[in-house]
Amino acid sequence: MITLGIESTAHTFGIGIIKDKSILANEKSTYTTKKEGIIPAKAADHHIEVCDKILEKALKKAKIKKQDIDLIAFSQSPGLGHTLRVGAMFARTLSTTLNKPLIGVNHCIAHLEIGRLLTKAKDPILLYASGANTQVIAYEANKYRIFGETLDIGVGNFLDSFARYLGIGFPGGPKIEQLAKKSKNYIELPYVVKGMDVSFGGILTNLKNQKAKKEDLCFSAQETVFAMLVEITERALAHTGKTEVLLGGGVACNKRLQEMITLMCKERKAKSYVPENQYLVDNGAMIAWLGALMYNAGITTRIEASQIEPYIRTDDIDVKWR
Ligand code: ATP
Ligand code: FE2
Repeated sequence: MITLGIESTAHTFGIGIIKDKSILANEKSTYTTKKEGIIPAKAADHHIEVCDKILEKALKKAKIKKQDIDLIAFSQSPGLGHTLRVGAMFARTLSTTLNKPLIGVNHCIAHLEIGRLLTKAKDPILLYASGANTQVIAYEANKYRIFGETLDIGVGNFLDSFARYLGIGFPGGPKIEQLAKKSKNYIELPYVVKGMDVSFGGILTNLKNQKAKKEDLCFSAQETVFAMLVEITERALAHTGKTEVLLGGGVACNKRLQEMITLMCKERKAKSYVPENQYLVDNGAMIAWLGALMYNAGITTRIEASQIEPYIRTDDIDVKWR
C-alpha cells in the first residue's frame, strides 16, 4: 500500500511517500524569516506557493505516479489554523480527484510513531521538543498521554526568541548550539520545573537582563532548559516504569540535548533513541506512516469530517492501532 502524507502544521510544508514500511520520499520546504517570528498568513502563502512543486518532487523521488497512491494522509491537528487549512485543502483535492481514501492524523503522535518505525523503540516515552511544542508523551490505556509539558512557550520558540534578542538570526536553536560549544562558564539562571511541567518565559526575561558574553549565555541557557527537559522525562520513566526514551522535534537535533538524555538513560538502565534529523523535524513521512497505521486499523476520515482541528490535544485521540 502506498500512502502519501502531507505536513502543514506550522512553517514546514512537507510531503512524504511510504510503501508499506519503506519511506520512498520525504520532501519539504520551510518558510523562514530573517528577523521576525512566524507570521501564520505568510507561512500559509508559502505553502500554497510550494505545494505543487513539493508534490512533483516527492513523486519523482518515489518513482511513482499520482495514480499509484492508495491513501492520502494529512496533519489535521494541532497547529496554526492558516497553515493547517492549506494542507487539508490539498489533501481533500487529491483525495477527491484520485478517488482515494483520506485520513487526518495528529501531528504529535506522528512524531512518536515515526520514531517507533525507524528505531528499535517499542514502547517509549517521547520527549517532543520542537518550536511550538514541548511535551513528554507516552502510551497508556489506549491513549497517548501527556505526562508533562511547557506551561508557556515551546523550548524551540524560547531558543528562537533568545537568538532574535542576540541578533544571531532564525532559526536560533542551531546558532545557540554553536555558540554554546565555545563556553563552559555557567551563569546561574532560574530553573523552572513545576511538578511534571516546565516553563521558559521567566528564563528568557532573566537572560535578557544578563550582561555576560553571548557564548556563556547560550551555554547556560542550554544547560538549564535541557536539564529541565531531562528531569521531567526521567520522572515520566519512573512513573510509567517504561525503559525507553525517544526524541522528536527540531530541538532534538541538538547534540547536547541528545547527550544529556543518553546519560540519564544510562544511569537508569533505560535506552535512548534518536531518529535521523530529517525525521525529527516536521516532515511528511511521519504523517504518511501514522495515516497508514490508522487506515490499517480500519479508520478513515470522511471529507465532511476533514475540517482542521488546531486545538486537539494528543490525549484526545483514541489509539486503535496499538
Ligand atoms: P512543531 O509544529 O512540531 O512545534 P516546528 O514547526 O517548530 O514544530 P520543528 O522542525 O520540529 O518545527 O522544530 C523547529 C525548532 O527546532 C526551531 O525552534 C529551531 O530553533 C529548533 N532547532 C533546530 N535545530 C536545533 C538545534 N540543533 N538545537 C536546538 N534547537 C534546534
Ligand atoms: Fe512537529
